[in-house]
Amino acid sequence: MNSRHAFQVLCVVAVFFALTGSAARANDGYGLWLNYDRLADPARLQTGREIFSAAVVPSDSATLRVVREEIKRGLDGLLGIDLSFAETVAHNGVILVGTLRTSAAIRSLGWDTELKELGREGFLIRSSQVNGHRATVIAANEEVSLLYGTFHLLRLIQTKRTLDKIDIASRPHVQYRLLNHWDNMDGSIERGYAGRSLWQWDELPAKIDPRYQHYARANASLGLNGTVVNNVNANPIILQPEYLEKLRALADTFRPYGIKLFLSIRFSSPLRPARQAGSRRGGIGDLETADPLDPEVRQWWKDKVKEIYAVIPDFGGFLVKANSEGMPGPQDYGRHHADGANMLASALKPYGGIVMWRAFVYDAKTDSDRAKRAYKEFVPLDGVFASNVFVQAKNGPIDFQPREPVHPLFGAMPKTPLMLELQITQEYLGHSKHLVYLAPMWKEYLDFDTHAKGSGSSVATVIDGSLHDYAMTGIAGVANTGSDRNWCGHFFAQANWYAFGRLAWDHQLSAETIADEWICMTLSRDEQVVRTVNAMMMGSWEACINYMTPLGLHHIMQAGFHYGPQPSYANAPRQDWTSVYYHRADKHGVGFDRSSTGSNATSQYFSPVRERFDNVATCPEKYLLWFHHLPWDHKMASGRTLWQEIQRHYDAGIETVKQMQTTWETLKGRIDPEIFSHVQGKLETQLQDATIWHDTCLAYFGSFAN
Ligand code: GCU
Repeated sequence: MNSRHAFQVLCVVAVFFALTGSAARANDGYGLWLNYDRLADPARLQTGREIFSAAVVPSDSATLRVVREEIKRGLDGLLGIDLSFAETVAHNGVILVGTLRTSAAIRSLGWDTELKELGREGFLIRSSQVNGHRATVIAANEEVSLLYGTFHLLRLIQTKRTLDKIDIASRPHVQYRLLNHWDNMDGSIERGYAGRSLWQWDELPAKIDPRYQHYARANASLGLNGTVVNNVNANPIILQPEYLEKLRALADTFRPYGIKLFLSIRFSSPLRPARQAGSRRGGIGDLETADPLDPEVRQWWKDKVKEIYAVIPDFGGFLVKANSEGMPGPQDYGRHHADGANMLASALKPYGGIVMWRAFVYDAKTDSDRAKRAYKEFVPLDGVFASNVFVQAKNGPIDFQPREPVHPLFGAMPKTPLMLELQITQEYLGHSKHLVYLAPMWKEYLDFDTHAKGSGSSVATVIDGSLHDYAMTGIAGVANTGSDRNWCGHFFAQANWYAFGRLAWDHQLSAETIADEWICMTLSRDEQVVRTVNAMMMGSWEACINYMTPLGLHHIMQAGFHYGPQPSYANAPRQDWTSVYYHRADKHGVGFDRSSTGSNATSQYFSPVRERFDNVATCPEKYLLWFHHLPWDHKMASGRTLWQEIQRHYDAGIETVKQMQTTWETLKGRIDPEIFSHVQGKLETQLQDATIWHDTCLAYFGSFAN
């Protein structure tokens, strides 16, 4: 072979590897959306290599070291550049990363006013001139925001955006962007479907699992800035000195990535330990009471908080589930939620800590309609909570059902910052077995117009504080991570972690855009593949609703396990609180009458939402059986009877899953083979189990309707 021929062969091989990229390497999912697989398009590679040939990241700190590492790793992977770091911008094609404090070159750009407007966490990315040379500048007020900007720049490269005319100013819409882990101290995870807890309590603080850092990096790449590491059904031992040392190690690992540590606490922590193992009462102290107005109790919390901050100086605060599902709380002592929250808030206040007090309350014994309880308990307390307290409410009034109407609290507490709690883990949406992309659901809630202050009062405007001028704003997602190699159990469940983080930063992003980003960063940048997968993802939530709980049906899943269907009383552990309570099917009809002729839950919404939901004729069909009890032959908009429409929805659910399978098969050979077969297997299970939902529910409801 002559040298010219050898060169040609080499070129062919190089082009082959460039084109096939990651497809040649099996992907086990560990790298999430941060694999930085090489760009395939030679022209893009060429431009990228010209624009990003070196970097200048002045000054030093743990966060800036992460910034440097990430740029180097990203550009190596995406563009095949062995990036060098320089002191100054001395030629074209440099990335300059700095704050006004760390970089004289940034100061010289005169961007001070714009930077000021971007706040602590925002960043600018601009194609600009520095010292007379063409450069890409990432500028921000804080070092952690430089990290956000760095990840964003890498995302632009990954998602094939124009790179030589960048002009981006970005800031988060919401201040506290948190994951909530429902991780228990024994390593199990409540409603976790991806293995065991990430936190190895028995190894900490001596051994730091590298995964803690990878976890923090993944969160930072989305702009998440905090994590509650333990279950809301909190074990009080988390506050023991031994555990505080373990938590210190975690917080130290998270800190360079801008992730603050928060804890769920048990309200009765000051009490003596409970005698019964597994009890939700009891604490770690030696007091006789946990009454929030008792001076000794207040002092106990003050001392405990002081102890925590001595170990974790930037500790974020407490998440509290109180007087809910057997958890202790202030009502045990005749006090109200604000008494409890404010006691903790006053202990945290001197250190800048916050309280997230959950509004997930209901009482099976006394509530004739569970959906109404939170509103009844919390709205009268509006204005009574201390300034560093959030009330944290789930998106809907029951409990993360496949679809619920929005929680009536949103818009109803103008003087109390409300934090939105979404569930990333798929407790009621097929665990980690079903492909269900949740961003369309979250957008449905965020975009929902509560009409609290007339039209334009969306949930997003409540959450980002713009509607009521909240002094603090926050959003939380119940995490879907675990010890499984691919973090989330189902490869596509990673997209939900990704989407939560992106929406927490910017709720105006569309579900489609987020899906496109994620696909480009994980599966393929081939436009046809992106379109195909995007369509599959976008239809998946509605499919799940259809084969589980269409038309406003809810809470008819297996008791306890919350996976398969169980519309009947059979084997229910508690006869007072079963699916029948929620669907109320009999030979006359089906649905929960929450209208003014029933529980009147509709009255908790603002006008005209209230009237729209209250009237069968105007109630959106997707919420119909949530708000109304109707005869089986009720005429639907389609002209079909209610029973026919229910059947049609269950059928459609199955059809969509079948289509998803067919679509997936078309991707064979076009995406990573390991991911291909992993998802293929999951889709098979999804179809089987969706069919069980379909058959069980139609047989059950059919026994009344037919
Ligand atoms: C649901 C879930 C529980 C969880 C609870 C909560 O009811 O099934 O496991 O503890 O929500 O949000 O507190």
